Amino acid sequence: MNDISRIAISTGGGDAPGLNAVIRSVTLAARNRGWHVVGIRDGFNGLMNPEEYPNGGLMDLDRQSVRGIQHTGGTILGSTNRGNPTRYPVEQPDGTYVHVDRSDELIQRFNDAGIDALITVGGDGSLTIGNHLYEAGLRVIGVPKTIDNDLDKTTATFGFDTAVDFATECIDRLFTTATSHGRVMVVEVMGRDAGWIALHTGMAGGAHCILIPEIPYQLEHLAETILQRDRTGSRFTIVVVAEGARPVGGEVSVIGQAVGQAVQLGGIGGKVAAEISALTGKETRTVVLGHLLRGGSPTALDRLLGLRFGAAAVRALDEGENGIMVGLQPPDVVYVPLSEATRQLKLVPLDGDTMRTARDLGINFGDRPPLDITSA
Ligand code: F6P
Repeated sequence: MNDISRIAISTGGGDAPGLNAVIRSVTLAARNRGWHVVGIRDGFNGLMNPEEYPNGGLMDLDRQSVRGIQHTGGTILGSTNRGNPTRYPVEQPDGTYVHVDRSDELIQRFNDAGIDALITVGGDGSLTIGNHLYEAGLRVIGVPKTIDNDLDKTTATFGFDTAVDFATECIDRLFTTATSHGRVMVVEVMGRDAGWIALHTGMAGGAHCILIPEIPYQLEHLAETILQRDRTGSRFTIVVVAEGARPVGGEVSVIGQAVGQAVQLGGIGGKVAAEISALTGKETRTVVLGHLLRGGSPTALDRLLGLRFGAAAVRALDEGENGIMVGLQPPDVVYVPLSEATRQLKLVPLDGDTMRTARDLGINFGDRPPLDITSA
């Protein structure tokens, strides 16, 4: 027996389709054990700044409140990627900001609210905060979430499949118009540090060039690929670019940075398109899929993953686990120490089977000249 009677769940960082499935699963699995469940609004902000919310920033979660939500995108609790409690930005009289660690205060609020344990659903940032809170004395279980699929120690994160599915449909649509006009279509997708979305979408959608953060590119190789396609009768080309891609010796494309947030990436698609046009003389168009990839209904696979992770997190608490993340290691959901899960990101392995398949198909990644297909 454990001594749990009331748990909290929070969803932090960028949202991902499948979050509501986790919330439903945690709520039902906990309620079925006789535990009470509360949701914290907007990451940890509900508890950090309770005066800004109804009901002190907490939302009672019962069967009624999680009915019919597993097929919806977003999170009924709200989310934020601002206000990290371990580096909380506080404005100074001169307009500058200092960052203070408010985790002790936050843990005190968990205690005051009679919360015995926290299930934190998030990406790299939120799970690192979760680990910090665990080390500071809170009972914490992590659930991995990100459309980018870049969390280590889990073969998949929910949201990724939905993002890839939708992006692939978009490329299917662009394919026909690109063919009609003999144009180069550059499609920018999310993927800050890892190119999973670009790689899987590009391959499923039949792209000819894919640029990912793991492989700095030289646009000359793309230009050659495009011109070679022209010479061999394929006058159109589809290029998929991850937002975190960068040229050899160059930097990622940054739009800006708000206080307490990571830099906002964007604009690489337009830059790549302009340079391709200059190098090849071809007409190019850019489509930025961006946050469209974070919205919409989760696929069945992401719903199932969310449900499995949520229930596994509750089981872990019931079994007395603490400071761990639930992760998928097919066919099982396993427990991994949060400290290990957050040590590094899961990047695309360049010698992995998917990459080797892409190379075999002749997809150009901007790091080498195109295969000579004129006689093939
Ligand atoms: O969820 C991760 C991610 O999709 C990154 O690929 C992207 O850089 C980031 O979210 C953008 O988040 P936001 O615009 O919400 O700050």
